[in-house]
Amino acid sequence: MSDWEKSGQIASEALDFGKNLIKEGKNALEVLNKIEKKINELGGKPAFPAQISINETAAHCIPEKNVVFKEGDLVKLDVGAHVNGCIGDNAVSINFGDHDKLIKASRDALNSAIEIAKIGTELREIGNVVNEVMKSYEFNVIKNLSGHEIKEYETHAGLTVPNYDDGDRTKLKEGQVIAIEPFATTGVGFVKEGKPSGIYSLINPKQVRNDTTRNVLKFILEEYSTLPFAQRWLSKKFSEFQIKFALRMLEKEGIIQEYKQLIEKGNGIVSQSEHTLMIGKNTKILTKR
Ligand code: CO
Repeated sequence: MSDWEKSGQIASEALDFGKNLIKEGKNALEVLNKIEKKINELGGKPAFPAQISINETAAHCIPEKNVVFKEGDLVKLDVGAHVNGCIGDNAVSINFGDHDKLIKASRDALNSAIEIAKIGTELREIGNVVNEVMKSYEFNVIKNLSGHEIKEYETHAGLTVPNYDDGDRTKLKEGQVIAIEPFATTGVGFVKEGKPSGIYSLINPKQVRNDTTRNVLKFILEEYSTLPFAQRWLSKKFSEFQIKFALRMLEKEGIIQEYKQLIEKGNGIVSQSEHTLMIGKNTKILTKR
């Protein structure tokens, strides 16, 4: 099995494991911690912090310590694993309310897009299929969220895989790894930035003078390279004070960036489905077991 296949299988197993832990009354952050531990046990590493985004929050969310799942919620779980930098990325939506149709819309859109994703398919065709399925359900697709190409140690590399016909005639090529991730919403179909997420990534490593900051940067480079990491992961090595101080300084120097939570602009409820594929004569769904 290649590292791409391995990471896909680990991401898939960790997603299912996490999905089964998501129950009304359970603590969201504890679920994320267990998923990340599971990824390690399976022989991978998290490709980015596992994320749980609830209701109108579409993505990039690590819930605060006191958040529990409640009746009425639509919960999105997004999990990525890597093996030697090869990344599998997948997501699923879980229903604690009246959201069956909304969840089915993003899942159907994903499946329809996967069916046509092969050598020579234009990116805009994938977007068009996703959008048409959403329209048939009378929901909006979120236009400013998209799927993405994946390369070693790069979660978002090269191609953007649109969720509507954006006119991009770029054709898929053999061996490309892409994630397709439609988001369906009852809202207006756009996200805006919300609160800081506690998720960071390295964008421009360079020398820093301060000792603490230099040590934190060294740790980030060694442990996560260019992959996104969570603020809380640093606490296995550093104190809260050191972490806050160093992250602030690294951000100010333009060395790291923090992601913002992404919230549906019309406060609509959002569902998401995602798989990672390897394009070929027979395209393989890497995150399916
Ligand atoms: Co993704």
